Parts: sequence; structure tokens; C-alpha cells
Amino acid sequence: MPASEVPNVHFLSAGDFNAQVWERVVHRALDMKAHPDDYATKLDGRSVGLFFAKPSLRTRLSSFVGVAELGGHALVISQEQVGVGTREHPGDVSRVMERYLAAVAMRVFEHDMLTGFSETTSMPVINLLSDAEHPCQAVADVVTIAEHRPIEGTVVAYVGDGNNVAHSLMLAAQRTGMKIRVAAPAGYDPAPRFVEQAGAAVELIRDPREAVDGAHVVYTDVWTSMGDESKANERRSDFSAYRVTPELMGLADPQAIFMHCLPAHDDEEVSRDVIESAASRVFDQAENRLHAFKSILIECLSDPDTS
Ligand code: CP
Ligand code: NVA
Repeated sequence: MPASEVPNVHFLSAGDFNAQVWERVVHRALDMKAHPDDYATKLDGRSVGLFFAKPSLRTRLSSFVGVAELGGHALVISQEQVGVGTREHPGDVSRVMERYLAAVAMRVFEHDMLTGFSETTSMPVINLLSDAEHPCQAVADVVTIAEHRPIEGTVVAYVGDGNNVAHSLMLAAQRTGMKIRVAAPAGYDPAPRFVEQAGAAVELIRDPREAVDGAHVVYTDVWTSMGDESKANERRSDFSAYRVTPELMGLADPQAIFMHCLPAHDDEEVSRDVIESAASRVFDQAENRLHAFKSILIECLSDPDTS
């Protein structure tokens, strides 16, 4: 059967999975973590492309190792090598790729590139981070929260930039029954379309202390994302009151955990002692990127035995 006739699911946004799919993907990730051998042949020699237009540590490791642990072959491709949109039309690249690959996962600058790419192929396309979202990170984050407490009813305080990580976490909260309070400085709120899509799950609060008060999870991300480096100085000044410190953590629930997608910038968005504290789950999050990616991939490939 030509690749274009095979049913598929793209995962470009955390909102692409409904509540039921979110539950299945998170539970499968937890099961994969506990019983990796049960899934060791699920990809059965199929090949998956991993495309990067930006640097990465966790995403590169989790996707490459994840494909291998499912019995598939991972092919890492860089924008430098392929030149999507520069050397070649994106729709031509996607239609060549689908003749070889079971799926492609992509880290890009503009989310529109990802959308355009997915519209020209029936091969599953998975977002490994764009300027708008980081949905694979959000799945790993929910898995990490599930290891700590019941997901439903969890109150997450997100302190910092209303960026790609915040957007996907907001949509994840909406899909999984969590509440998320986003405390960003004026001018750095999440994009209105994500606030609207997340609905009652999200509350925008200017004061980080008010956002963190009694929260079960305190989450932050870098003040300067990849692609925004020219504005780093301005951002350091604009975000200076939004650093997660032991004092800020002290306002959260006594059992609260600290989360950060990493990489972290010490003494910008978080102080080193918070990362090293007993409340920190940052390395569990990093590990859970693996189990999350494997589960997402199986979901997108619609494997009837595992979905
Ligand atoms: N959290 C995350 O996506 O890390 P990398 O940028 O290193 O992949
Ligand atoms: N918001 C960050 C996340 C890195 C994993 C960025 O886009 O650079």
C-alpha cells in the first residue's frame, strides 16, 4: 500500500491528543518504563527519521534510544544536511521521506514549517520542539507528575516565559485535569490562542508568589529560548523577579516538586540549590522523555496491538 494511504496521527501540538489518548499515552509510558522488554520489537525493523534544526541533548537522546529500544532504526538528519525550504521544497522532502520512513520527528524554528510539512505527508510527524510548542516534553512532564501524585487536581505553578514549553504544558493540563497558574512578566504572557484553548485549566497571574502559593508543582524554563539569543540582556532584566529560589519554593505545598525541562541557566530562571534540592525532579523528567517518546511514537503509528 502506498505510504499516502496508511492511516496516521501527527503530534504537532499537545492538543492533538484528546483526554482519552493523553491517558493512554501516559499510562503506556509508565508501563514501558516498568516493562521495557514487552515493547522491544514493536517497531520491528522500521526506520524513523529524527530531524534537528536546533541543538538538543535530551530530545536527541530520548528519540534515538527510544527508536532503538522499540526495535527500529533511527536516522538523525540535520537541517544543515537536508536544507528543508532552502535546498529543497518542504513538500518534496516529506514525500521522499515517507517512501523510506515509518515516521519523522522534527525540531524546527517556525511551527508553520512543521504544519506545512505534515500537510504534505501521511507519515506521522512528531514535534520535537518548535517556537510554539514542545509537546513531547509535556508528555514526559505529566508522566513525571504521575509518579509523584494523582494527575487530576494537580496545581502547577509555571513561573517565567509564556513560551513553547508553557503552551504545551497548558494544553496538557487542560487534557489531563490539572490546573496551571502561569506567572510571566508583562509582555511575556502565553499566546492568547493557547490561553483560549486551555480554557478554565489556565489562570494568568502576574505575581510569582501568588502563583506558587500552595501549588503541587513549581515549573520554570529558560528566560531566553533558542532563537531569542539577541534579546538575552533585555530578558534578563525583564525576568529578574521571576527566578525560582528556595524562598519561592517555600510558598508552595510542603510536598511540592520542582520541574524544569532543561537545559537550565543557573541564577537566571532558577538557583542551583533548587535544582539540587530534594524537591527537584529534573532528571526524572529528562529520563521520562525516553518513555514518553516511545509511547507517543507507538500512538502515532496506530499500532493496534499497543494502542
Ligand atoms: N528539554 C529538552 O528538550 O532538552 P534538549 O533541548 O536538550 O533536547
Ligand atoms: N524554551 C526552550 C526549551 C528548550 C528545551 C527553547 O525553546 O529553547
